[in-house]
Amino acid sequence: MSSLLNIANPQKTSWQVNFARDLPPYLDPVITDWLLQSPEILTCLTDMYSSPLNIVWPHTVANNLKAMAAVTASFGIKSKFYYGVKVNKSQALLQAAVSAGAGADVSSLQELHDAIRAGCHGVDLCATGPAKTRDFLQELILKGARIAVDSYQELRDIIELAQIWRGNFEKISLLLRLRPDANCSSRFGMLSDEIIIALHSLADNKHLELAGFHFHLSGYAPETRVSALLDTLPLITYARNLGLDPRIIDIGGGLPVQYVESQCYKTWLSSQKFADYRTGKIPACFYPYGGELNAEQWLTVFLESQNAVGDRISDILCKEGLTLCIEPGRSLVNQSAISVFRVCRVRPHTDDSSVIFVEGSSFSACETWFNSEFLIDPIHLRSSNHAQNHSPGKAWIAGHSCLDEDVITNRLISFLHLPQPGDLLVFVNTAGYQMDLLENQFHRHPLPTRLTALMNPSKKLMFTVDN
Ligand SMILES: Cc1ncc(COP(=O)(O)O)c(C=O)c1O
Repeated sequence: MSSLLNIANPQKTSWQVNFARDLPPYLDPVITDWLLQSPEILTCLTDMYSSPLNIVWPHTVANNLKAMAAVTASFGIKSKFYYGVKVNKSQALLQAAVSAGAGADVSSLQELHDAIRAGCHGVDLCATGPAKTRDFLQELILKGARIAVDSYQELRDIIELAQIWRGNFEKISLLLRLRPDANCSSRFGMLSDEIIIALHSLADNKHLELAGFHFHLSGYAPETRVSALLDTLPLITYARNLGLDPRIIDIGGGLPVQYVESQCYKTWLSSQKFADYRTGKIPACFYPYGGELNAEQWLTVFLESQNAVGDRISDILCKEGLTLCIEPGRSLVNQSAISVFRVCRVRPHTDDSSVIFVEGSSFSACETWFNSEFLIDPIHLRSSNHAQNHSPGKAWIAGHSCLDEDVITNRLISFLHLPQPGDLLVFVNTAGYQMDLLENQFHRHPLPTRLTALMNPSKKLMFTVDN
């Protein structure tokens, strides 16, 4: 981190903060207070660092981790959370997770090195991603990280590398990634019969240690995780009969984030019309922006779920002496960043809608993994210079590149006052795969700056560059 900012001389223009009515986002109270009390600081920062600007809020990661860990503790089970480093490029958020006691789930050499730079010890590293390169496996082994084995081929590589690269620690700690029958068409993990073959290889190998089993499933349904966990139980028994000692069940990620209030989201979904989109089409699917459960409720539902004879998952974990490991990506960075765009140009598009061009592109704010539309309204910071323009307006939002498809929202957003050039649009809660997964230097625009918001001892926010 570097360059403490001097933001003592904000401009004379005053700023109004307008929340939209259709899909107003949940917003962390520290960020809300700061935005409402000193919007001019955000405009100053955007002047200094340009648009788009990402600001990350490390305190939220510690809060999220604490809330999730409180749930597992309330069930009396042993648990360990690993921060999914892939979720964004912020070193400050990674460091916040490590300082708060999380391990780190790394998927590349670079993520591994950043996790170590953030203070994560080798034994607190795990690698659950698929198709790991030999270089990456080698480094994981050297650092003493736990490796989730994705395929039998990967296990063969590890067996080979173990002969050459074994470090000071006793054994290389492995999880075997199960591909549950319900997901048999997936390309990730091993089917039960492949796992059995892998277990026999492990039973014969003095360098490798079976720590347990892993799965990661798409989607957000706790039921699918319950069923996958129950699928691992016969494998645990099988492994124990071979003299192995599995003591971890690792359920990956997929804990949901609520971006908007659930009822508001349902109302929007059931009332939306073709005319609400500039394309005239309602998108086929959305990220569940306003699902019924937050991450803590999801964990509670998961741990309270029962098998066919009424045993709760939490009791099964206790009885079997298993530690529950989880790698939440999106949900550990719930509320952890905002992405700010300056309005560049506003043009009428149809009789009753406009298009807003922002300085930046959809690559810096997009719902990357679901072909989904950004279904939360941005917050509008309106300059007092535009006070004469009171008219409400509907508008969709585009980047300022030459690509026709460079669109941040196809949805027409109902603004209380139609934004004007120089105003800011603030997308909140963008830390989970949205703010920087696709960012690039198209048109040779520099990559957006990322600032970290830190509270100093006298409870004042300070901003430093996050690197
Ligand atoms: C193996 C694995 N674990 C954890 C995660 C994190 O998932 P989420 O961000 O939905 O929590 C992912 C995301 O793709 C993953 O592939």
